[in-house]
Amino acid sequence: MFTDLLFEEGFTKVDAELDVIFVPTDDLVVEAMLKMAAVTKDDILYDLGCGDGRIVVAAAMEREAQAVGVDMDPRRIAEANALAETVSVTDRVKFLQEDLLTVDFSAATVLTLYLLPSLNLKLKARILSELKPGTRVIGHAFNMGRWQPDAKRAMGGVYIYKWVVPAPVHGTWEWLSEECKVYRVELLQAFQMLSGQAWIDGQEVDLLEAKMLGDRVHLSIKASDAEEADLFISIYREGQLLPAADSKQVSVGVRISV
Ligand SMILES: C[S@@+](CC[C@H](N)C(=O)[O-])C[C@H]1O[C@@H](n2cnc3c(N)ncnc32)[C@H](O)[C@@H]1O
Repeated sequence: MFTDLLFEEGFTKVDAELDVIFVPTDDLVVEAMLKMAAVTKDDILYDLGCGDGRIVVAAAMEREAQAVGVDMDPRRIAEANALAETVSVTDRVKFLQEDLLTVDFSAATVLTLYLLPSLNLKLKARILSELKPGTRVIGHAFNMGRWQPDAKRAMGGVYIYKWVVPAPVHGTWEWLSEECKVYRVELLQAFQMLSGQAWIDGQEVDLLEAKMLGDRVHLSIKASDAEEADLFISIYREGQLLPAADSKQVSVGVRISV
């Protein structure tokens, strides 16, 4: 009865099914979000709950990216397609009338969200498990609970947040250094935060720093008799830690236990 009354007042069945109402992001904030993600023509941007398509269209128009908008409301999809046509970017954008909670967004290299804290939390597990390490997630106004942002910026009374999807690097790893010593680290991971222990040829040593961004891991390890710490920079690829060009690591890092 209550919904009947609402429908009579212009509140439609689609409105009743939405998880959040349409509130567009201000154009200056759109620009700041694209800048924070450093969107380029090589990116595939997904905006979940795309509204009138302004973020998707701006990514295509200003950054030449491929971009996909998802919205459950057919009125928003119609507006978004009209906007894309007006500025002639229909070849680079696509709008899907689907539920953002179930749509496949695994192709994204940039994900934008202006939803609600509860929706961010519902999406968090899928973001971490389905998106490639290094994918940038830009949130307007709402955070991700315990997953701290890698960057944030105040914008017109709210924050915009950037998270970089971290590679799953928890576990015990071994590799060889330039001096043919066996380095072992046990990494504990909470999102992008790392801690742990290190050994050189079986002797426990100091793990001075362990940090990561996306698929890049930086480890600073110091033996008690060494004057300086060794810095290892690795790139996570398909379950291995590959040495970056300027790293002291000479062999591929292999995970010996999870
Ligand atoms: C706050 S607006 C954000 C619009 C746009 N992203 C922007 O920043 O300008 C949220 C959008 O999410 C859409 N929406 C709400 N629940 C949804 C759902 N379950 N699946 C897809 N879209 C949904 C609404 O129709 C609305 O357009």
